[in-house]
Amino acid sequence: MPVFAVTNRLPDSGLELLRGAGELRLADATAALPRADLLRHVDGADAVLTLLNDRVDDAFLDAAGPQLCCVANVAVGFDNIDLEAAGRRGVLVANTPGVLDDATADLTMALLLAAVRRIGEGERLVRSGRPWAWSMSFMLGSDLRGKRLGIVGLGNVGSRVARRARAFGMSIAYHGRRAASAEVVAELEAERLELDELLSSADVLSLHCPLTAATRHLIGARELALMKPTATLVNTARGPVVDERALAEALREGRIAAAGLDVYEHEPAVEPGLLGLENVVLSPHLGSATVETRAAMAELAARNAIAAVRGEALPTPVATPAP
Ligand code: GLV
Repeated sequence: MPVFAVTNRLPDSGLELLRGAGELRLADATAALPRADLLRHVDGADAVLTLLNDRVDDAFLDAAGPQLCCVANVAVGFDNIDLEAAGRRGVLVANTPGVLDDATADLTMALLLAAVRRIGEGERLVRSGRPWAWSMSFMLGSDLRGKRLGIVGLGNVGSRVARRARAFGMSIAYHGRRAASAEVVAELEAERLELDELLSSADVLSLHCPLTAATRHLIGARELALMKPTATLVNTARGPVVDERALAEALREGRIAAAGLDVYEHEPAVEPGLLGLENVVLSPHLGSATVETRAAMAELAARNAIAAVRGEALPTPVATPAP
């Protein structure tokens, strides 16, 4: 019987699938396992279901052993996995694209709206008990209608954010390594721009690219300086895509107006310079955090792991470099 090691608590529907296909080794953890426990936990597994905060590297793969055939990440991002190390060992890697797009796009809009309309700041004020009163100039934000949303990475999530933003009256421009499909471009009337042009023209910039060597600190001091002083930055992709210290400085000095962040450069730590700022809304990596989406992610990861141990094609494989 194949052994499936699961590194964290997962929704039952995913576990049920695994139980029906092999022996289940569960970690009764709600946070990432400490490294030594993680390495012990995966020892002897045929497939491992990992979370985005489990580092899968040579040490992990060696600890699992040569029978390991698949690492199924319960996340769409897979920057926690050393693909070369997996490829060298012939270990298949899978992620969970497609099932978390709406939840992540919803959360992106929540942060966008909260940042642009100063919801965090307003909430803190009301809770503080400090006096406030309605007035014509009290806590003004800005309209979305007629504004430009700049999307970095018009993929599954980015295009859903764009669709939502269009319903709010925004126009769409994007930057990406590849041109988006003709249907998406036509539906969204999306203009493709070089990054610098997108930065200087967007009223809201929303990041939806994977974290790779090329996108680490894609948005740093130089890029922030190109943005409008009235612009808002939203990041629901991966923290290290933004130089968090440079962002804190730009927000503090009013070089951009606001930011909404769901992910952090040194997650779960947050750049201290951000914490005291009123013009940033911070959420604790909640992009895919809905009951329905987490169940769908667990099920898809389970289906990947089961296909791998059976020698079948994986539903959603990640390409690994050939050994
Ligand atoms: C969440 O951040 C994911 O990559 O699934």
